[in-house]
Amino acid sequence: MTDQELVQKAIEMQRFSYVPYSHFPVGAALLCEDGRVFTGCNVENAAYGSTICAERTALLKAVSEGCRSGWTAIAIAGKGSDYCWPCGSCRQMLYEFAPNLRVLAARGDGKFVEMELSKLLPNGFGPQALN
Ligand code: THU
Repeated sequence: MTDQELVQKAIEMQRFSYVPYSHFPVGAALLCEDGRVFTGCNVENAAYGSTICAERTALLKAVSEGCRSGWTAIAIAGKGSDYCWPCGSCRQMLYEFAPNLRVLAARGDGKFVEMELSKLLPNGFGPQALN
């Protein structure tokens, strides 16, 4: 799967977003080394803080399906004019399983840029910190 194809999957997931409050749909697609792709969208809630981001939806689908290693890239697509970078909570949760994950951040026109998660979350707190 190319980066472009992964971004396209993230864009397509926006159609499932439940965003009655922000009206800001986000889609995500998480690629594993065995070729599996776990997709997600943001799901908002009347209790705003209970909202879950697209990236964490995809992450939870992967982990709950038994895939917790070998993650190679995640694409995130928003509709804005800025690239849709993962929020702090999503960076933290992704770091747990794949600190060197490639993050592809896409904007509304479909253009995307790439940055490694370890650069987005320098000196992150991971499982090794508890040793
Ligand atoms: N959101 C995501 O799904 N992922 C991000 O990386 C940034 C923010 C969602 C949460 C909320 O539903 C909406 O975008 C506005 O913050």
